[in-house]
Amino acid sequence: MTSDIRDWWDKTSEAYQAACEIPVDIHYGPGSPNEDELKLLGDVAGKHVLELGCGGGQCSVAFALRGARVTGIDFAEGQLAFARKLAAGHGAEVEFLQHDVRDLSPFADDSRDVVFSAFALMYLDDRPRVFREVRRVLKPGGIFAFSVDHPLFRKVDLDTLTIVESYNETGPAVDDLGELGTTTMYRYRIGDLHNALVDAGFVVERLIEPDSRKRYDHDPWFGRWGVYLPKVLDLVPPTLIFKAVKPGG
Ligand SMILES: C[S@@+](CC[C@H](N)C(=O)[O-])C[C@H]1O[C@@H](n2cnc3c(N)ncnc32)[C@H](O)[C@@H]1O
Repeated sequence: MTSDIRDWWDKTSEAYQAACEIPVDIHYGPGSPNEDELKLLGDVAGKHVLELGCGGGQCSVAFALRGARVTGIDFAEGQLAFARKLAAGHGAEVEFLQHDVRDLSPFADDSRDVVFSAFALMYLDDRPRVFREVRRVLKPGGIFAFSVDHPLFRKVDLDTLTIVESYNETGPAVDDLGELGTTTMYRYRIGDLHNALVDAGFVVERLIEPDSRKRYDHDPWFGRWGVYLPKVLDLVPPTLIFKAVKPGG
């Protein structure tokens, strides 16, 4: 299943990047403020940042342009090819690795100040294990900030605007990106993510459900694929953000 997700992102990358034209920015997702507004990470200059599921590299490049030492990992070579070109075009030094987020063994214990991920961890079939690994690679006091699909958003029928699936339903589901096609994501409830972070040894400092009734200038997903439509964004936020901290430091 996971190799299908990798192959899908690999073959869809070019069309996805062409459609979205995602700005170089530390973003959190559709209908959401960016890092400049949320200020979850503080000054990243000189910090070691690991980005999980970096895609086209827009966040990794933005971290590097702010003086961070960045490694971006993604398992889709198509996405990484775009990311490498983007970094070169901006004169940004980023280490991009083709690698599965579910295996963080290449990264040493206590080696990163920040682990960041935007809209990638919903594709993982074993998030609790990855959360434990993220805690291992973070320095004491290090920050784990990530965004995923808000679970309620995916329960709404886009035509009738009614909830058509139980919030309690978890496990694999279809991720539908309109003309780009479909792949697989793994559903969760907010409490599942929160408790997995706590069980992994994190202190959860912030859980943010951005007000998606507002328009955010930098949001490249607004209106896309017949999914991120104002009529839906007015009802339910599409993005859920966690900031968790490894104790100590
Ligand atoms: C929606 S894109 C987000 C990309 C980027 N973070 C952004 O915000 O533009 C999801 C990315 O996660 C990557 N991904 C999904 N599962 C992964 C895994 N197990 N290991 C590595 N990358 C993964 C995909 O290849 C894809 O590039």
